[in-house]
Amino acid sequence: MCRWTVTKGAAAWSCIRLSLLFALVVLLLCPLPSTCRPNAPGVAAFSALRLPRAANASSATVVGRHARSYNHLQGDVRRRKLFSYQKFFLRIDKNGKVNGTKNKDDLYNVLEIKSVDVGIVAIKGVNSNYYLAISKKGELYGARDFGVDCRLTERIEENRYNTYASAEWRNKKKAMFVGLSANGKPMRGKKTRRKNTATHFLPIPV
Ligand SMILES: *[C@@H]1O[C@H](CO)[C@@H](O)[C@H](O)[C@H]1NC(C)=O
Ligand SMILES: *[C@@H]1O[C@H](CO)[C@@H](O)[C@H](O)[C@H]1NC(C)=O
Repeated sequence: MCRWTVTKGAAAWSCIRLSLLFALVVLLLCPLPSTCRPNAPGVAAFSALRLPRAANASSATVVGRHARSYNHLQGDVRRRKLFSYQKFFLRIDKNGKVNGTKNKDDLYNVLEIKSVDVGIVAIKGVNSNYYLAISKKGELYGARDFGVDCRLTERIEENRYNTYASAEWRNKKKAMFVGLSANGKPMRGKKTRRKNTATHFLPIPV
């Protein structure tokens, strides 16, 4: 990757320091249209930050005309706030309770999104240390330890918001999603649908 930023006499190791230039170059050279997610409002930096990894040709898969699933390299960690379509920040508090807040500075809305498998992420509250989880019954909760309930399939929907569905559990063959109601209350997975904006979130870089 360094070769892109090696200019007149610049040593390879210095490319790390030239990260800004690097991001620019990647933006210009990005080889796959499918890895270049046009920016949704407020996520310009998000795309730029992620592109160096996404330059690997296997990093994104087109699954529909517009919707795309992520194919992050395992271990990829991003610190984000999840901002819902209804303008709530998803929070996981110190007791493991999941709900929404309008307060962008809420202590518990900072999340770590880590890729644990192809297209599958784990989402952990940075200040609570609870993982976002969906139980077999579809309850949205914070789990102390990482387990099957915490495996979430991350996908970009047509409106460029992301959805997070349980990778493990389904209800009558239908996916169950992370969702916050119009009042910021956690939704039962059985009531959630991919097309419903209650399940739509923008990951905002912290
Ligand atoms: C892309 O990622 C895959 C899977 O991790 C890896 O095997 C492959 O070598 C990578 N390709 C490049 C060009 O880095
Ligand atoms: C979320 O939960 C916290 C703590 O129980 C509560 O203070 C807050 O009002 C809740 N937010 C909403 C939108 O219900």
